[in-house]
Amino acid sequence: MSKTQGKTSVTVSTAANIALIKYWGKLERDGNQPATASLSIGLEDLRTTTTLAFSNSDSHEVELEGQPSSRINHFLDQVRVEFEIKPCFKVVSNNNFPTGTGLASSASGFAALALGLNELLDLRLSRQVISQLARKGSGSAARSVYGGFVEVIPSDDAMAVRVLSADEWPLSVIVVINNQQPKEVGSTEAMQRSATTSPYYRDWVKTHTADMEEAKLAIADRDFEKLADISEHNCLKMHGTIMTTRPPVLYWLPATIAVMHTVQTLRAAGTPAFFTIDAGAQVKVICPPACADTVEDRIREIEGVLNTIRTEVGGEPRLSSE
Ligand code: DP6
Repeated sequence: MSKTQGKTSVTVSTAANIALIKYWGKLERDGNQPATASLSIGLEDLRTTTTLAFSNSDSHEVELEGQPSSRINHFLDQVRVEFEIKPCFKVVSNNNFPTGTGLASSASGFAALALGLNELLDLRLSRQVISQLARKGSGSAARSVYGGFVEVIPSDDAMAVRVLSADEWPLSVIVVINNQQPKEVGSTEAMQRSATTSPYYRDWVKTHTADMEEAKLAIADRDFEKLADISEHNCLKMHGTIMTTRPPVLYWLPATIAVMHTVQTLRAAGTPAFFTIDAGAQVKVICPPACADTVEDRIREIEGVLNTIRTEVGGEPRLSSE
């Protein structure tokens, strides 16, 4: 079935997301299927803007932050095969935050592509099917096709669904930048290494459903303390499997650990805040909006912290087309 080409150009803005319960590991089958469920929040102000059009040439023209991207090319080829599309694509994609440093640029990036291709090619896919398409590019991208609190449950063709919209539980997020350099080991490679060499990987997967249930209950009850406990536990458990791979992957820097200690000290003294960390040295600190100034001021004093970005839970995609 060949699709009509209704639009000449589509621009999509999508937000990065941060998982509170992490996707880490893949099923042994095609299609980039997650081995674990995940639960994330969209980060309103950390955005990818991607413009898509048809290319006049017989190869894709891709610019990610001004550079070619074989990963995007591969994804576009998959889409051409799946939807029987003849022309190649022109893609220009930029992030308003550092790319490839553990701030989920692949999540917002592939979500923008999936949403944009749906629009450009007039595919009329449901949001859940767009989420499945985004997942083929990057597992965490399945979640960035929505804003707010979003979950993915593993299945034959895993997709994300929204758990809660952002305005149902307003929370602030302080993104703590401890390293501006791209990470040395990408998450795809690191999770593969965890699955094959970490002695803790099997237990990571085995205990994951219980973490998801606890986090979902905490969200349903708007129980910040409970969400803090389970999110930090799940984050540290994932990093346990990452550090115990062979060869090991050490994402943390001294400032990463200092931020964790500061957050725990603040919480013990009565300021509600918790941390989470993806595949990199950056830390994201979640707290009620009323505490965000106190928390951010305290974190900015830590040696080794390069910068902080304040944002809120949100991240609904935005689309415009010509
Ligand atoms: C630690 O989505 O980057 O951020 O599917 O191989 O692209 P690929 O992996 P990716 O992994 C995300 C890992 C994580 C946890 C999470 O976002 O759930």
